[in-house]
Amino acid sequence: MRKKIVAGNWKMNLNLEEGQKLTSEIVNMLKDENIKDVIAVLNPPFVHLYPVKKLIGDTPNLFLGSQNCSDKASGAFTGETSAGMLASFGATYVIIGHSERREYFKESNQLLTEKTKQALTNGLTPIFCCGEPLNIREAESHEAYVKQQLTESLFDFSPEEMSKIVIAYEPIWAIGTGRTASSDQAQEMHAALRTHLASKFGQELADNISILYGGSANPGNAKELFSKPDVDGGLIGGASLKSRDFVEIVKSF
Ligand code: PGA
Repeated sequence: MRKKIVAGNWKMNLNLEEGQKLTSEIVNMLKDENIKDVIAVLNPPFVHLYPVKKLIGDTPNLFLGSQNCSDKASGAFTGETSAGMLASFGATYVIIGHSERREYFKESNQLLTEKTKQALTNGLTPIFCCGEPLNIREAESHEAYVKQQLTESLFDFSPEEMSKIVIAYEPIWAIGTGRTASSDQAQEMHAALRTHLASKFGQELADNISILYGGSANPGNAKELFSKPDVDGGLIGGASLKSRDFVEIVKSF
């Protein structure tokens, strides 16, 4: 049985006070909701990790993640944060290869392999992002494009390593634009990615990998998206900054 996951990606938003307020609200709402079979993850900026972890405490099904980690274990890499540090702060998830990191920080498929390795070595679950820009979608080469992202970054991992990775499909044209992919478009791509993973790692392993959808998901469209057989949850940007919206999405299965 694959896991249902809703991960909030705060991106570079919220000061200390705002981050604490948002976390406390989510913690209180989730305690009331008693959600059993969905994993919720908060992925704040690095500086928020410690206070957010304190507030999460032992809230059932609520976990801490990061938005990025270094591809190196330690050393003279000014400004970087290692996967080992994240684990020591109580993080259990890390987003790898978000399209904003690929685009603005020029992260390549090869670099993302190294980051994923660091995450796995330190016991973190990578949420590995993939997705196509608008021109690739319009040229109808989106499936080949996204499959290649997975092949180049992940296909040298062992089946055991691969089984620990979560995939997030995020069409770039849907991120922060209010233009979500239709549930059929999401399902089509998720099914194609699962088939692609099965071709390399076998059907059983592919059937157990969670594939999340990201891109303008909100409380109004999450139910429809999550009703699709290959959509196992969401990576949520804008709507994860509002406690009620985030919790409503967690409840949308
Ligand atoms: P969005 O962002 O929900 O604001 O579109 C999703 C993401 O970038 O992870």
